[in-house]
Amino acid sequence: MAERKQSIHGQWSSRLAFIMAATGSAVGLGNIWKFPYIAGENGGGAFVLFYLLCIVLIGVPIMMAEVMLGRRGRQSPINTMRELAHEESRHGFWQIVGWGGVLAGFLILSYYSVIAGWALAYVLKAFSGAFTGIGGEQSKALFGGFTNDAYAVGFWHTVFMIITMVVVARGVRHGLEKAVRYLMPALLILLLVLVGYAMSTDGFVTGLKFLFAPDFSKLSGDAMLEAMGHAFFTLSLGMGAIMIYGSYLPKNVSIAKTTFYVAGADTLVALLAGMAIFPLVFTYGLESSAGPSLIFQTLPIAFGNIPGGVFLAGLFFILLVFAAWTSSISLIEPAVAWLVENRGMKRITASLWAGVVTWLLGFATVFSFNIWSDVKPLSGLATFEKSTLFDLLDYLTANIMLPLGGFLIAIFAGWLMTRKSSKEELKIKFPYGYPVWLFLVRFIAPGAVIAVFIVKTGLWTWAKNIF
Ligand code: TRP
Repeated sequence: MAERKQSIHGQWSSRLAFIMAATGSAVGLGNIWKFPYIAGENGGGAFVLFYLLCIVLIGVPIMMAEVMLGRRGRQSPINTMRELAHEESRHGFWQIVGWGGVLAGFLILSYYSVIAGWALAYVLKAFSGAFTGIGGEQSKALFGGFTNDAYAVGFWHTVFMIITMVVVARGVRHGLEKAVRYLMPALLILLLVLVGYAMSTDGFVTGLKFLFAPDFSKLSGDAMLEAMGHAFFTLSLGMGAIMIYGSYLPKNVSIAKTTFYVAGADTLVALLAGMAIFPLVFTYGLESSAGPSLIFQTLPIAFGNIPGGVFLAGLFFILLVFAAWTSSISLIEPAVAWLVENRGMKRITASLWAGVVTWLLGFATVFSFNIWSDVKPLSGLATFEKSTLFDLLDYLTANIMLPLGGFLIAIFAGWLMTRKSSKEELKIKFPYGYPVWLFLVRFIAPGAVIAVFIVKTGLWTWAKNIF
């Protein structure tokens, strides 16, 4: 099977194409929408530092492992894991990584698409001049008015789902490669413009301090789990998205180098987004812990107060939609590839089915912000007292399913694959690169996942009390 040179679904045209696609998958709402709001909810500095630590020690080695497994298996994650387990004479159990990933992909995309729909709606609002001269209260009201309208939110969710599935149906390698190449740099430039505006506000220093000065008393077990979960989420790890992109990667490309580029670009975008947003939060007296609405409340104020703001705001939200789009595609690709491989479906039929299921699921999130905002299914449990369906979906996927998936990937790649196989596939040229990777993927990454779960569940305090 090591003979398989290409996936039946095709191959990237070059190394750059893979970097672009993987960056497209990684950079998305997670960086610009989610990172700032969870950093805000968890008190900033210490959370951010812990998140960066997770990226380096857990994210990077697991990303290399995922790309490696994908390229070796050259199929959908389910079949890749089955075949690699067989090849290494391991139990078929390992397919669970693929199945869990498909499920996580559906669940994540269901809410991801709703938030991307918000961004779509904000493109129109921006161009209509709705942000001109806007202040904190008005911006809040504008957002509240919009998300209260289940029809509007549902409509934009539907539009986003359709554009996603059209690209998936055509095959991810057509069009996507080229689009990402221009849009990512444009997004970066716009973020720099926003950071520039943030620098001119009174709250700039307060904002930076909030983001970068760590106060470890604020780092609770919950915050640590959230930071770790987000490291997986933002790098698209733990569910097979990067694995399947790896399966389209030509044989001779260096996995380590490409991983560094992708993780670096992803982290840069998240930090810039934070630097653009928190100064505004403090300048305009907004809540740093506003939650999912944070960027939709803050950024309009910035755009409403800078020259050319109408145009720039429109452009920004368009780019945000594109960033979300290139991420969404990777969330559903594992499921679609599996339907094509195992159910003999055409890509278009597979995309249609996967799309309809996700679209329907998405309404749980659409309604979480309006007619079901009081539905709190787990209100009996302290942690989830205030959690809506959207909050629960986000928690289950990002904080539990992805870290578990990543844990299993690390164990498989580090312990169950022979060194000969992983060494041959990774071909790390950097001196000591391979042993360092092996150490991280065997001990540090899985150990850290378990440690965070232990701290979070309070097992730690419990154990301390006993001894
Ligand atoms: N990484 C993307 C973001 O930050 C979201 C995403 C795309 C994702 N594919 C994924 C998250 C796979 C987890 C798993 O917006």
